[in-house]
Amino acid sequence: MKTIIEPFRIKAVEPIAMTSAEQRRELIARAHYNLFGLHSDDVIIDLLTDSGTSAMSAAQWGALMRGDESYAGSPSFYRFEAAVKELMPFRHVIPTHQGRAAEAILFSVLGGSGKIIPSNTHFDTTRGNIEVTGAEALDLVIAEGRDPRSLHPFKGNMDVERLEQLLVERGEHVPVVMLTVTNNAGGGQPVSLDNVRRTAEVARRHGKKLFIDGCRFAENAYFIKLREPGQAARSVPDIVREMFGYADGMTMSAKKDAFANIGGWLALNDDELAAAARRRLILTEGFPTYGGLAGRDLEAIAQGLSEIVDENYLRYRAASNEYIGERLVALGVPIVLPVGGHAVFVDAREFLPHIPPLEYPGQSLAVALYECGGIRACEIGTVMFGRQPDGSERPAAMDLVRLAMPRRVYTQSHADYIVEVFAEIAATRESLSGYRIASQPDVLRHFTAEFEPLRRRAAAGV
Ligand code: F0G
Repeated sequence: MKTIIEPFRIKAVEPIAMTSAEQRRELIARAHYNLFGLHSDDVIIDLLTDSGTSAMSAAQWGALMRGDESYAGSPSFYRFEAAVKELMPFRHVIPTHQGRAAEAILFSVLGGSGKIIPSNTHFDTTRGNIEVTGAEALDLVIAEGRDPRSLHPFKGNMDVERLEQLLVERGEHVPVVMLTVTNNAGGGQPVSLDNVRRTAEVARRHGKKLFIDGCRFAENAYFIKLREPGQAARSVPDIVREMFGYADGMTMSAKKDAFANIGGWLALNDDELAAAARRRLILTEGFPTYGGLAGRDLEAIAQGLSEIVDENYLRYRAASNEYIGERLVALGVPIVLPVGGHAVFVDAREFLPHIPPLEYPGQSLAVALYECGGIRACEIGTVMFGRQPDGSERPAAMDLVRLAMPRRVYTQSHADYIVEVFAEIAATRESLSGYRIASQPDVLRHFTAEFEPLRRRAAAGV
């Protein structure tokens, strides 16, 4: 059959409160045109993030009841540890409350001023946790990874030549090499198995450890199976094991590819580093057999890990994002290609060429999506990255809007609805105007900045 169906039935539902366009115009104005300021029950389709927003399975809800909340030595921890080691064969597995806590612990041990930590592209919490120690976070993704139109199958790949050059010239400052799979900041683009292997070889030749940020490891492995020569016949768990087999450790947010609403871990082979990390863990998260989590969370993660590598699920996951992407392209809406593993990224700068970057075309599109259809998406552009340390403004490299897809939450008709909202906005796009920032904090301004529309918008459509 050509139709790829949702490979699950729905046992529990959450009602969506429907609002009118008039109500939404009022609600977003009250939130000062910042999508983070909305109450989520005023949102019809929430595509703000795929993180922590997954629908858990009946088996995961069942596993929650089995959670053992003992302070030390809980059987839930040992089930969690075994589930992680089944896919990622590291000697030490250290649970944390989410991904950034694993990063904070790792870089509190390995970071420090004068150090340089390269990656394909650091996610912003990883970058933040590196920079807060005084170290430099360096992005070395291949050139195709920065070109929204390039159709390279593995746009998340590390530029291995530039990594080699860095290690030859300034290797003594590099404590660890990172690799983010998939590359979230670059559009959810995968890293090939060959690239993981070559990155590991270069790191090892220079005596450096390789750590993988594995948040979306299953989506990455599925792209390897689909796109990398010689991988089609392998099982996803087999590819996952090879990917992590090249690494010395990993950080993980279980809020992505473990189908959990909270959780994460740091895993690694080095005994001394693990001991240092556990000392830090006890101060900031908790005892090593629960980290920052309840026993029931550990159970949900253990069960989620067995479900995320199911190929029926991964086929549906990739197909549903592609479905939206293909229809947006047909409407003339420019997107980052190929469609990534967890999100569709819309190129708002190209979609709204009459709005200059410093009037935030991504914010304009994100507000229009909400006003027109109650869809909440996230600007990833000049609002997020445009403010310079000296307080001045510069256009970001791109003005994108991310439609991040929660796992197993929305159905085909939700996808059709999203496309219809885009069709309506595309027909009246010239009527959208830019924004100015009326007030903002010094750092991470996108969460709390207040915006004002620059012109009264025409009533049509929006
Ligand atoms: N690494 C990557 C690649 C991520 O995408 C995220 C989170 C983290 C680390 C941090 O994990 O949230 O559990 O602390 N990304 C979310 C997003 C927030 O919306 O992309 P966390």
